[in-house]
Amino acid sequence: MVSNEYIIVEKSPALNGTVDLYGAKNAVLVIIASLLLTRGKSRLNNVPASDDVFAMIKLIESLGGQAFFHVQEHVLEIDTSMVNKWQVSAQMMKKMRASILVMGPLVALFGKAEVALPGGCIIGERAIDYHLKNFKKMGVYIDQAADYLNIHANGLHAQRLVLEYPSVGATENIMMAATLTPGITTIVNAALEPEVLDLIAVLRKMGARIDIQAPATVVIEGVTALHPVEHTIVVDRLEAGALLLAAAISGGSLALPQACAYTMDVFLLKLEEMGHEIVVGPHGVGITIKATKEPKAVSFKTAPYPGFPTDLQAPMMAAQCLAEGTSIIEETVFENRLVHVHELQKMGAQIKVTHNKATIIGVEKLYGASVIATDIRASCALVLAGLVADGSTIMTGIHHWTRGYDGLEKKLACLGAQIAVHTMHESQSGFTSQELAVDAPAAKLVSV
Ligand code: EPZ
Repeated sequence: MVSNEYIIVEKSPALNGTVDLYGAKNAVLVIIASLLLTRGKSRLNNVPASDDVFAMIKLIESLGGQAFFHVQEHVLEIDTSMVNKWQVSAQMMKKMRASILVMGPLVALFGKAEVALPGGCIIGERAIDYHLKNFKKMGVYIDQAADYLNIHANGLHAQRLVLEYPSVGATENIMMAATLTPGITTIVNAALEPEVLDLIAVLRKMGARIDIQAPATVVIEGVTALHPVEHTIVVDRLEAGALLLAAAISGGSLALPQACAYTMDVFLLKLEEMGHEIVVGPHGVGITIKATKEPKAVSFKTAPYPGFPTDLQAPMMAAQCLAEGTSIIEETVFENRLVHVHELQKMGAQIKVTHNKATIIGVEKLYGASVIATDIRASCALVLAGLVADGSTIMTGIHHWTRGYDGLEKKLACLGAQIAVHTMHESQSGFTSQELAVDAPAAKLVSV
């Protein structure tokens, strides 16, 4: 989907202030899918109004669900009483990776599902073989024609399943199917990201029996039915990371009273190693940062939780571009998640890539340029770099930005950032700036 919008970021003063956080995109998408396991009306609070959320709402509506999104209040009500379909259109499946997460609930509910492969994206092939081979072990038959999957099962069977890699999506998909599968299903080497834990909290509220055991094992005892819930989505550690890095790169001070520091330990450790002052509130809730004006370069490698999150790799790389010294960043989760390097180089960053490693030598200055966002987190990296680059940075490909963040440009502007979303017009007069009118494409907007 190509947007006719673009973001212009100008060199900005140090960002200072206090910001609230919305719920995590990577929690709310799977939690919306999990509501298919229940019959009735659920309510989710602190839901970000990002494009992926609207797309997931549209997917649920295509299955017969009803959605009422109080966008201004970030409250989403979903009624699944009338869900009666198990086929998802290929067009809908291709919109985002998370669409594959309806597979587990649909198979548990109907014993069948017709979905398309979610498709790869620039960061990697995004295979779903871990999902499929484990569903087969649970008794699911999968007929694949091109990239369309026709899935059916004569009842699911509880199994002890071993993930060769702690895949977030595979853990979530299998777990959701197992909640309604008679017997004990065990997932060994499960992903336990904060967003997976928030899904587990929701499933338990629904009446699911789920136990987490060391090391990284999830044990699910199937029940006969699950009921609707109310839940407040865990705050987004990735939005928090983006905001902390905006303060860090601009030399400012920021308070995030709701941030769950205990979900970001390695990331915060690296910010401190750069010389930034980080203070965490009581019980690990609340983060303030006072940025150093002379940041030191740090090195890290991404890893499954609780390691350094791959989704903060690109934004953190932007902060290394102007740090003193050399940073070596190794991306171990996705096979092609260094595409943003090329765009940062356009802005004057000194970066060399060898296989899945980037070596960044800090420079004195970055320069505004026309850059293209290639994925959600790359768009964040380019905005951060634009905040401190001399001149204007024009970023296109902002459908990635709006897929992953809910008005983050507005939050940054409130902190002092010179940033705005613009709409490209046919006229030759260049670009005219206008506030982006929120046009929610899917959910019925309920007046506040
Ligand atoms: C989730 O993706 C997140 N997306 C990603 O966030 C995040 O980067 C990723 O987890 C890792 O933390 C959502 O939650 C919607 P994986 P997911 O299964 O579930 C390979 C963002 O920017 N793999 O843990 O797809 C896969 O290709 C997005 O918000 C297989 O090979 O991640 C990848 O290399 C990006 N076969 C690695 O495992 C499979 O069957 C990790 O994937 C499944 C995964």
